[in-house]
Amino acid sequence: MAIKKVVRMGDPVLKAPCLEVSEFDTPELHALVVDMKDTMHAENGAGLAANQIGVNLRVILFGFEQNERYPEAPEIPETVLINPIIEVLDRSKEIAWEGCLSIPGMRGLVPRYLSIRYSGKDEFGNPVSQDVSDFHARVVQHENDHLDGLLYPQRMTSMDSFGYIDELDAACALDEKSLPCEDDRSEV
Ligand code: NI
Repeated sequence: MAIKKVVRMGDPVLKAPCLEVSEFDTPELHALVVDMKDTMHAENGAGLAANQIGVNLRVILFGFEQNERYPEAPEIPETVLINPIIEVLDRSKEIAWEGCLSIPGMRGLVPRYLSIRYSGKDEFGNPVSQDVSDFHARVVQHENDHLDGLLYPQRMTSMDSFGYIDELDAACALDEKSLPCEDDRSEV
C-alpha cells in the first residue's frame, strides 16, 4: 500500500462531513485502512482520520506504543474505528495541548471531555466499543471531530494559547499544561 500525503487545513475535504461506511470487509476498505496505518506511522501520528488522506468516509485510526516523542503518554492499542459514536461519560473537561497532522508545526490548548465511551465497527464489520479517559479520550474526540469537518482550533476557547511549536517551546509555554515542554512532538 502507500504512504499518502496528509491534507492540510484549508483543503475543503477537511471541512465536509464524512459519509458512513455501508460495506465492510471489502478490498477497498482494507486498502484504505492500510494506507491510513502506513501514513500515520510515517508521520509519527497518534491518530488519523480518512479525510486527512482525502477519503470522505467515517473511518478513524488511533494508537501508538511507547512513543519517545510522547514519553508521558500511556500506550494506546492501535484501533480502527468506523462510523464512530461518542457518548460522554463525564461532563467535566480538561484543557491540554493538541496538535494535528493537518496543521503542522502548531499547537493549541483544547478542552476535551475527560471520559467517553466510543462504539462503532472495525474494518471487518465487528462491533468495537470501549470506555476511555484522559489522553486516550482526547485522541478519539479529536479524530471523531475530523469526520464532522472540525479541526481543533474550532474547539479552542481562546486563541491566546495557539502558536508555532518552536515559539511556544522558546517561551516554555508547553510545559504549563499537561504535556512536557521539549518532548511533545506527536500529532493527532
Ligand atoms: Ni488531526
